[in-house]
Amino acid sequence: MTSATAKANTEAHPSSQAPLPEVRHPEFDFPADLPKYWWDNDPVKTLLLAALSSSFPPGEKFFIDSVRHFQDRITDPELKKAVRAFIGQEAHHSKEHKEFNEFLDQRGIGLARLEREIQGFMDWMRSNLSPERQLAHTVAVEHFTAMMAEDFLLKYDEALEEMDPRIAPVWAWHAIEESEHKAVAFDVYKAIGGSEWTRISEMMFVSVIFPVFTSLHVIQLMKADGQLGNLKSWARAVDYMWGRPGVFRRMIPSYLRFYSPRFHPWNHNPRDMIEKAKRRWLPGY
Ligand SMILES: [Fe+2]
Ligand SMILES: [Fe+2]
Repeated sequence: MTSATAKANTEAHPSSQAPLPEVRHPEFDFPADLPKYWWDNDPVKTLLLAALSSSFPPGEKFFIDSVRHFQDRITDPELKKAVRAFIGQEAHHSKEHKEFNEFLDQRGIGLARLEREIQGFMDWMRSNLSPERQLAHTVAVEHFTAMMAEDFLLKYDEALEEMDPRIAPVWAWHAIEESEHKAVAFDVYKAIGGSEWTRISEMMFVSVIFPVFTSLHVIQLMKADGQLGNLKSWARAVDYMWGRPGVFRRMIPSYLRFYSPRFHPWNHNPRDMIEKAKRRWLPGY
């Protein structure tokens, strides 16, 4: 045995550092007196999260199904447990966001058109992509959600603090669980021998469609809300995302790491950040 092989055999798998994702069932009340623009009293920022929220029920169902397709091929007992927890967490996110989307709908932020469009796109992928590429799609989007959870919502308190305090825990809960299960789809992909080309090319595809779709959806919502000409809100949002420091600008190093052949989601270990966020935003869980 070479010394390199011996080292590889004794090194722990990066996911051994991950907590087993915990399926929590927090109860959220969506208050009737919630301001319409509940994030920083700002239309673009609030409608950006509303657009993301509308994508969760159809998107998370797709993620679950793409992982479940390969569930029988997983032999590692730890990964089997993690897959069950991943499915439980994503299913519960969908349920809560569906309720939240209905609540927003009643308050005049119509999300039905967006949900139909996203569902149509998911149906197209199910019909046209191989199961391996569907899983690679999930792996790529899970990296995006982990980046948003860690580098946007959990690392700096400012975004959650700017939200209405009755809504911030919903986003903190989702971010904590996205961070906890960030490697599950990736580990399944590796376990089934998914190709590097498919993983990388799918990330390139997601890197185009995700920002384009999300921007179009925010424009649709702003238009429907009579806010399209609110230049002040657009300028604030662009500065918030791409200015200095800028939330998306801060994510660039994490984003680029995905393209490394040595990438693993748990090469970046956010356990301390998750624990701190749990104490602050989800006391009792
Ligand atoms: Fe989720
Ligand atoms: Fe997820």
